[in-house]
Amino acid sequence: MVKKWWQNSVVYQIYPKSFLDSNGDGIGDLQGIIQKIPYLKKLGVDVIWLCPVYQSPQDDNGYDISDYESIDPEFGTMDDMKELIRACNREDIRIVMDLVVNHTSDEHWWFQEAQKSKENPYRDFYIWRKGKNGQPPNDLKSNFGGSAWEYSEETNEYYLHFYSKKQPDLNWENEKLRQEIYRMMNYWLELGIAGFRMDVIDLIGKIPDEKIKENGPRLHEYLREMNENTFGKTDAMTVGECWGATPEIARLYTAPERKELNMIFQFEQIQLDKQKGGQRWDLKELDLRELKAVFSKWQYELDGCGWNSLFWSNHDLPRIVSRWGNDGKYRELSAKMLATLLHGMKGTPYIYQGEELGMTNVPFTAIENFPDIETQNIYKERLRAGFSAEETIHAIRKKARDNARTPMQWNAEENAGFTTGTPWYQINPNYKEINAEDETAREDSVFSHYQKLIQLRKKHEIMVYGEYHLLLPEDEDLYIYTRTLGKEQWLILCNFHEKEREIASTQIGSVLLSNYTDTPQLKELHLLRPYEAVIYRLPEKVEMHNVCAVYSDKSVSITEEIEEGESRE
Ligand code: NOJ
Repeated sequence: MVKKWWQNSVVYQIYPKSFLDSNGDGIGDLQGIIQKIPYLKKLGVDVIWLCPVYQSPQDDNGYDISDYESIDPEFGTMDDMKELIRACNREDIRIVMDLVVNHTSDEHWWFQEAQKSKENPYRDFYIWRKGKNGQPPNDLKSNFGGSAWEYSEETNEYYLHFYSKKQPDLNWENEKLRQEIYRMMNYWLELGIAGFRMDVIDLIGKIPDEKIKENGPRLHEYLREMNENTFGKTDAMTVGECWGATPEIARLYTAPERKELNMIFQFEQIQLDKQKGGQRWDLKELDLRELKAVFSKWQYELDGCGWNSLFWSNHDLPRIVSRWGNDGKYRELSAKMLATLLHGMKGTPYIYQGEELGMTNVPFTAIENFPDIETQNIYKERLRAGFSAEETIHAIRKKARDNARTPMQWNAEENAGFTTGTPWYQINPNYKEINAEDETAREDSVFSHYQKLIQLRKKHEIMVYGEYHLLLPEDEDLYIYTRTLGKEQWLILCNFHEKEREIASTQIGSVLLSNYTDTPQLKELHLLRPYEAVIYRLPEKVEMHNVCAVYSDKSVSITEEIEEGESRE
C-alpha cells in the first residue's frame, strides 16, 4: 500500500459554535479558531476537521445548510474562512471541511424553488411522494424522531427528511444535482482545503419506496463518480460517516483500487452501551471484552486493504472519560489511558475538542438544559411511548449529544474564557478544575499526554504502520495488544479498572510512554495500577514472549496466543 500523508496525521475536530467566541455574541467563530492555532500547534495535530460553518438557519447547528458557498454570519465571513486556511497552512495544519450533502436546509434556494410546483426545474433535487389516504407515503422514521415524511401544502405531496423537517433529503438519482455538488466541492478544494468529512454519506443511495436507508444499490457508483469529478485528482483526505458499516462494507469504500474514500467512521464500538435492536437510549452495561472484539475485528479486517479512523468522541457522542473511563477520582488517569489505547492502534486518530483536556459529560438534570433538537424530540417521543421522565433523563445524561457541545474550557475565569458575552450553551460547571490553561501548564496533564502520543507517532513508524495483535481477549479489565513492524515490537497495556492487576512476563520491556510518572520497565512480575496505561518497547529478536495475567484467583496464560500471533521475522 502506498503511504499517504493522512496515515501519519492526527486530526483535531472543531465544533465551531463551542470552540472560542471572539466577538462576545456567545457563539464560537472563525476568528476564535484563528486565535487558537498556536494551541493546536502546541498539541501537535496536523489536520482540523471543521464542523459546518456554512450559511444555515442552525436548526441542527449547521448541518442544515442554506448556502454551501457562504459562511454563516454567526461564524464570520468568507474572508475569515480564507484567513483561517492561510493561517493554518502557514503552520502546516490542513483543513478538512464537513460535507453535508445527504440533505440541505429547507431554506436552501434549491428547496425553496422545488417546493413551488411539480414542474419546477429544482423539484427533482429532492424526494417527493404522494400521501396514502391522507397519511405519509410509508412509515419510514426520521433519525430525530417521528415520520421521515413532511407534508407540503403547495403541491399536496410529502418530502423526505431523515433528520429534522428543516433538512429535506437530496435526490442523488438526479444527475444535475450531483453535478452541482461536485462543482461546489471543487470550489472548496480550490480555496485550499485538504479534504472532506462526509456527513451520513451512507444514506445518499437511499430508496425510500423500498425503505432502504443505508447502503443503497447506487451508493458506491455515486462515490466513484464524486471521486473522479472532484478530489480524485488531488491528494485530499476523505472520511465518510457510515453508521451501518461492517468491515466488509468498509472495504468497499476504502480499498484504494476502488477509488472512493480514504477512510470511514464506523460506529460499532460506539453502540456497545445500547441494547441489541434497541435505540441508542436503551442502555446496556459496557463490557470490555466486547470493545476488544470490535476494535480488533476492525484492526484485522482492514489491515492491508483499507485504513481505520480511530476515534472515541465527536460532537454527536457523550464524552469518553464519562463513558469508558472514570470521571471522578481517576479522571486524568483514565482519560490518558483511553488516549493511549486509541492512539496506539493502527489508523488515523481523531481528537474531539476538549477530549485532550479530559472534559466530561454535563451534570445537568432538567430537560431544558439539553437544547439539542434530537434530545428534545427524543424526550417527547420516549415519554409518549410510556418511558418515565426519570429513566429518559437518565439515558439522555449518558448519551445525549449535548454532552459534547458545552463550550471549550479555556481557563478558570468567567465563562471559562470561551466568551465575554452570554454563552449559547451552559459551560460545564467543572471548568475551574478542568481547563486548557491549567492543562497546558502541567507536565502530567491529559493535554501533555496527548502531546506525547502525537510526538511518539511522528517519531516511530511502527505506531503508524505496525501490525496489531490482541492479547487476552477474555480478560474483563485489561486491554493488551502488540504492534509489530519488521523486527520491532511494542506492547501496549491498559488497565480499564481501578483494581490493581499483576502481569507476569518473561520479557523485559522499556517504557516509551506511561500515564504514571514512575512506571518501571516491564519485568517478570509487574503491577498495573488503577487505569495504568503503558507502551513498552520489547527487545529485539526474542524467540518467544510469555505474558500472563494474574487476576486474584484467576490465572490466564496467553503464551500460545502470542506465538500464534507472532509476526516477527
Ligand atoms: C451527522 C452529524 O454528525 C450530526 O450532527 C447531524 O445532526 C446529522 N448527521 C445530520 O446532518
